[in-house]
Amino acid sequence: MGTDDGGPGTTTIVVMGVSGSGKSTVAAGLVERLGWEFAEGDDFHPPENVEKMRAGHPLDDEDRWPWLRRLADWIGEHERAGRSVVVTCSALKRSYRDLLRDGHPSVWFAHVSGPQELITERVQKRSGHYMPPSLVPSQFAALEPLGDDEPGRVVPASGGPEQAVEDLLADLARERGVTLPSSP
Ligand SMILES: Nc1ncnc2c1ncn2[C@@H]1O[C@H](COP(=O)(O)OP(=O)(O)O)[C@@H](O)[C@H]1O
Ligand SMILES: [Mg+2]
Repeated sequence: MGTDDGGPGTTTIVVMGVSGSGKSTVAAGLVERLGWEFAEGDDFHPPENVEKMRAGHPLDDEDRWPWLRRLADWIGEHERAGRSVVVTCSALKRSYRDLLRDGHPSVWFAHVSGPQELITERVQKRSGHYMPPSLVPSQFAALEPLGDDEPGRVVPASGGPEQAVEDLLADLARERGVTLPSSP
């Protein structure tokens, strides 16, 4: 059975959470195990959004809609092509997640979640990223946890990324019939 045979069509894993929670790290672990295509949600921002964040200003909904629509389009293209994918996207609010999920039954959220102190420390230590530590509080203010009716699960940011990946793969196998590619 291939990776896409067991569940309801393809699967789109949206690795979500505040900046610095470990989305890109966990997504890389998933991609390594699954061998699926990957997109970094940060790369879908128009340059104005990146400059705004770099300057220490949080994005508002109006800034985020075009970004989310581009991501939703990417998800839709791959879903229609029958390709399972992994994508990172903070997807902080329910309304953002609803937009990504609209018409896309493949979407499944992996929320990397941890306390603000831990995340702030990680953002302070991280180099080469535009997001300043001063924006962490605004990320937590915007964050709405996954609802019971939203597909996906929460994994702790505090454990090792390997454990998060294992937990996610176990749930994906149960809920969506996702199987790992057989090793040669
Ligand atoms: N589970 C973890 N334990 C320790 N450090 C981590 C963990 N996950 C990520 N990091 C580190 O924390 C920082 C933020 O992680 P990153 O994956 O870039 O977050 P995000 O993509 O959500 O902004 C990076 O420097 C990364 O190496
Ligand atoms: Mg990232």
